[in-house]
Amino acid sequence: MKYTFVYQLAASFLLSSVIALAQTEAPTTENIVQSGGRRYACKCYPGDRCWPTSQKWKALNDTVGGTIKEVIPNWAVCYNTFEGKPTYNAAACAEATANFPLEQWTTDQDILNLWIFWTNNTCLPTTNPGDTCTLGYYPEYVIRAKTKADIKAGIDFARNNNVRLIIRNTGHDFMGRSTGYGSLAINTHDFKSVEFTKRYTGPGGYTGGAVTVGAGIQGRELLRLGNQQSPKVAIVTGECPTVGFAGGYIQGGGHGPLATLYGLAADQALSFDVITADGVYRTANARENPDLFWALKGGGPSTFATIVSVTVKTFPETKAAGAVFRINGTHTNDTEVFWKGFRAFHNLSNHYVENGMFVYYQLLTDSLNAQPFVAPTKTAAQLKEILKPLVDQLNSQNIPHSLTYHEYSTFFDLYIDLFADEGSGANMLVGGRLFTKTDIRNNGNGIVDAIRQSTEASQYGMIGHIVGPGTGAPVVDNAIHPQWRDGSSFSISVLLQPTNVTWAEKRAAEVFLTDQVDGPLRAASPNGAAYVNEGNLEEPNWQQAYWGSNYPRLLSLKKKWDPKGVFYARTTPGTEDWEVIDYGTRLCKKV
Ligand SMILES: Cc1cc2nc3c(=O)[nH]c(=O)nc-3n(C[C@H](O)[C@H](O)[C@H](O)COP(=O)(O)OP(=O)(O)OC[C@H]3O[C@@H](n4cnc5c(N)ncnc54)[C@H](O)[C@@H]3O)c2cc1C
Ligand SMILES: *[C@@H]1O[C@H](CO)[C@@H](O)[C@H](O)[C@H]1NC(C)=O
Ligand SMILES: *[C@@H]1O[C@H](CO)[C@@H](O)[C@H](O)[C@H]1NC(C)=O
Ligand SMILES: *[C@@H]1O[C@H](CO)[C@@H](O)[C@H](O)[C@H]1NC(C)=O
Ligand SMILES: *[C@@H]1O[C@H](CO)[C@@H](O)[C@H](O)[C@H]1NC(C)=O
Ligand SMILES: *[C@@H]1O[C@H](CO)[C@@H](O)[C@H](O)[C@H]1NC(C)=O
Ligand SMILES: *[C@@H]1O[C@H](CO)[C@@H](O)[C@H](O)[C@H]1NC(C)=O
Repeated sequence: MKYTFVYQLAASFLLSSVIALAQTEAPTTENIVQSGGRRYACKCYPGDRCWPTSQKWKALNDTVGGTIKEVIPNWAVCYNTFEGKPTYNAAACAEATANFPLEQWTTDQDILNLWIFWTNNTCLPTTNPGDTCTLGYYPEYVIRAKTKADIKAGIDFARNNNVRLIIRNTGHDFMGRSTGYGSLAINTHDFKSVEFTKRYTGPGGYTGGAVTVGAGIQGRELLRLGNQQSPKVAIVTGECPTVGFAGGYIQGGGHGPLATLYGLAADQALSFDVITADGVYRTANARENPDLFWALKGGGPSTFATIVSVTVKTFPETKAAGAVFRINGTHTNDTEVFWKGFRAFHNLSNHYVENGMFVYYQLLTDSLNAQPFVAPTKTAAQLKEILKPLVDQLNSQNIPHSLTYHEYSTFFDLYIDLFADEGSGANMLVGGRLFTKTDIRNNGNGIVDAIRQSTEASQYGMIGHIVGPGTGAPVVDNAIHPQWRDGSSFSISVLLQPTNVTWAEKRAAEVFLTDQVDGPLRAASPNGAAYVNEGNLEEPNWQQAYWGSNYPRLLSLKKKWDPKGVFYARTTPGTEDWEVIDYGTRLCKKV
């Protein structure tokens, strides 16, 4: 407030010195809005007096070497016009439409999201060019950043002009946090540098192998590079081939096939190179800015800084065994028999993780596809032995199923063989729950009942992960929910939506997800938690659910490192002060 006043005074008398001062501390571009009987201080939006002039945008474009683009949705080419300009192009439309379900293509674009719900679906592929295409919740402008100076320029511009800032890496965010109405987006996807070292020499006492990963690197890409090292190394990445590594994934925690053995991705971080909200390049590690280092390890995506690169531990490659376990219509159409089979499978979660394993599975109301069981360091014979209690239970209850075993000389070979590519374009809300060993021990049956109830309510199913990041790993001091250390099974719930739903229907779907789909999961797991990267935006007491006892420290660090709220991602520390008002458009601080 004091500074605003000083700048306004100065502005009327000494414009040139304001420009000089603005480089260090910009004047606030206040934008007070009344909405729904409340007073808000909003970001600046097109049409607002404080929205930057075209000269300012041009100056930014010059600063970032011409890499800023006005956002035109990819499928505008299927419509006659976009914002009054002709856009229709049959060939381009056919191509963009064919690409719609492709995951890698989607991640490579400037602004698209894999899961389309939070784009507001106002410009989907169409065969009717007379339909209307609008921007919806896509950003206004995007910087396809090539250098860290480009990222800094975008952060500075957003801060100085009070414009909403979005950091977009792969667009994987289930919860729509890599897009935002009326925003400036910075796309970090081209930061593809990777550097391996056999002996880490930075602070923190660790001296093993490490890799410095640029912000745009994707999971499988990183594993592939690790596999090309001599000797080969493995890294804790996500199960999904195209999920980012140094963006939302590691800042939210980051589970994956090696996480039971080595811990979450956030447990592997040794040092971050970042740009903080004040536009300063910083290193965050055990020696420099240790509080920021702590917060970046699991404290939430796009919350404390923009990551340019992160250095993480690597692990020597080892042999690995895998298994694929299925129960579906090939085996039985008896729902009760099916759920008995699922119960036998899920009730053994603690047993799998205690053996260093990870399992990825898709559960529908009448089928289970557990592909794969990942048993790093094990042979197929050892895995068979570990799964004996499962097979014994299935056999004693006469539950038909299929179970195959596979053995590989490296984890990477298993990963390539058993993890499938995924798609894009589903219109859905997601929620989910982390079940702990304690809850599975005390209430294994109740948890399976809850999963069934939830699956039947959503009329779809769940994406399941048996993962226990506290099992084999040394405990690292970081911001992840402490219950991850007792973790055993993490499920994502999914509520599919038609693309033409009204605002009111969307809100009703959120309530249904929270109460009917996620409600039973929460009730069955009093010692559980939720996962900020794969969770419900309406999660009750989200601060507690996502971070537990770490939340108060994260909140104070948010206030320290980003006092003005330059970065914003829903349900991350400090965002209780903010609200997206006016039908999902304006981001505003409650005042
Ligand atoms: C198909 C699929 C599979 C998945 N598998 C896994 C899995 O195995 N394990 C797991 O833990 N999670 C998994 N996830 C969830 C994943 O961790 C989150 O979606 C995560 O946010 C993706 O990060 P991203 O950077 O790739 O995506 P984006 O959508 O581009 O970004 C996600 C968030 O991170 C922020 N962000 C991106 N880059 C930066 C940066 N450089 N600096 C600061 N903030 C940044 C964005 O602003 C946004 O808030 C999966 C998601 C999908 C869709
Ligand atoms: C930024 O500059 C480049 C190169 O001159 C130009 O192609 C692009 O259209 C400009 N972006 C905007 C938003 O004007
Ligand atoms: C978003 O979608 C809703 C319908 O669900 C619609 O009412 C609203 O106008 C849309 N807003 C924008 C900015 O696209
Ligand atoms: C059911 O499982 C069998 C055996 O593994 C598999 O061949 C088949 O593709 C599965 N069916 C479906 C619909 O997933
Ligand atoms: C289940 O139903 C499907 C479809 O009717 C049928 O093809 C299949 O053979 C049935 N499975 C069993 C095990 O009977
Ligand atoms: C599942 O686990 C619970 C708790 O450990 C136990 O009481 C129950 O008998 C188990 N159920 C089955 C079907 O194995
Ligand atoms: C959405 O589309 C479905 C199927 O075409 C239709 O039945 C429904 O009425 C539509 N809903 C709205 C709100 O337009």
